[in-house]
Amino acid sequence: MFRRSVVAGCGAYLPERVVTNEELAKRVDTSNEWIVQRTGIRTRHIAAENQKTSDLAVAASQEALKHAGIEASDLDLVVLATATPDHTFPSTATAVQSSLGMTRGAAFDVQAVCSGFVYAINVADNFIRLNQADNVLVIGAETFSRILDWKDRSTCVLFGDGAGALVLKGEQGTGDNTDRGVLSNCLHSDGRYHNLLYVDGGPSATQTVGHLRMEGREVFKHAVKNLSSVVGEALDLAGLASEDVDWLVPHQANQRIISSTARKLRVGNEKIVMTVERHANTSAASIPLALEDAVSNRRICKNDVIVLEAMGGGFTWGANVIRW
Ligand code: UT7
Repeated sequence: MFRRSVVAGCGAYLPERVVTNEELAKRVDTSNEWIVQRTGIRTRHIAAENQKTSDLAVAASQEALKHAGIEASDLDLVVLATATPDHTFPSTATAVQSSLGMTRGAAFDVQAVCSGFVYAINVADNFIRLNQADNVLVIGAETFSRILDWKDRSTCVLFGDGAGALVLKGEQGTGDNTDRGVLSNCLHSDGRYHNLLYVDGGPSATQTVGHLRMEGREVFKHAVKNLSSVVGEALDLAGLASEDVDWLVPHQANQRIISSTARKLRVGNEKIVMTVERHANTSAASIPLALEDAVSNRRICKNDVIVLEAMGGGFTWGANVIRW
C-alpha cells in the first residue's frame, strides 16, 4: 500500500488595502516604470494595523477547509510557513489552531522564508506518508509590511502581505506517477549565503524585530540557477520531464526570475502561473496565493502536473511536483 498526499482544497486571503507603485513613489525615490520594468510588480496588498499573520492565515484556512469539505475537527496537523510570526512564541500555527476551533492533533511553524511553503508541503507529505496524519492543513502566511524599512527603496517596493492554504489528505495510491497527490519533493539550503537576505533584528541577536535587508542583485544571480536545477531534480525524482509539466507555480518574487527559470526549463510562458504583478512578493504565502488564483480561474484542473518552486533567505530553495 502506497500513501499519497492528495490536494483536497485550497484557499487564500488578501488584505483589503491595495497599494500602487504610484503611492510608493510619493514615499520613496522610485517610479512605477522602474518597479514594473525590474520586477513586474504593479500593486501589493497591505494588512490593516490590527491584522496579524494568524488572522490572514485563518481566513485562508477557512476557505481551504470549505473547499475540501471537511471541518477543523477533522484535521490532524497544521503546518504553517512564515517568517513574520505573530509572536516569537508560541507558534502562529497554534494561534490558527485555536481560532479554527481545532482541539486535537498538532500544530507548528516552519521557517524557510520565501521557500517556506515548499518546505511545509514536504513536511506535511512526510507525516501523511508515514501514516502519522490523514488530514493536514498547510499554510503560507506573511505580513512582510511589518519588517520592511519603508525608507529603503531597494526593498520596500518589492513585498506584500497575504495568506494561502491547502488541505492535504492521505489516500491510497499505486506508487507510480499517474497517482494524484504529491509525487516528489526536493529541498536545499546553503547557510554560507545567510548575509545576502536577512532581517537585522531578532530576540537573541538584538532584542528588536528588525528590518529586511537584501543584496538584490546577488540573490537574483543565485535564484535562476538554483531554481532551474531543483525543479530538474524534483521532476527526475517523480520520473517526469519538463514536457510533462502542465503548470509551473513559482514563488512570486520577480517576473524576470520566473521567466528566466521557465526558459531554462523549457516550460512555455502559457504554463506559468504569474501573480507577482498584483500580489508582489508575499514570501511563504506567494505560492498558495498563486495556486488558489489559478484554481479559482479554472486554469489548474484535476490530474494536471503542477510544479511548485521557491528560493529565499538562508539561502533555502526547493520544489514539489504534485498531480492535482
Ligand atoms: O523572495 C526572496 C528572493 N528575493 C528575490 O528573488 C529578489 C531578487 N532580486 C531582484 O529581484 C532584483 O535584484 C531587484 C528587483 C531587487 C533589483 O533589480 P536589479 O535590476 O538587480 O537592480 P539593482 O539592485 O542592480 O539596482 C539598479 C539601480 C541602482 O542604481 P545605480 O546604482 O545603478 O545608480 C539602484 O540604486 O536601481 C536603483 N534602484 C531603484 N531605483 C528606483 C534600486 N531600487 C530602486 C527603486 N526605484 N525602487
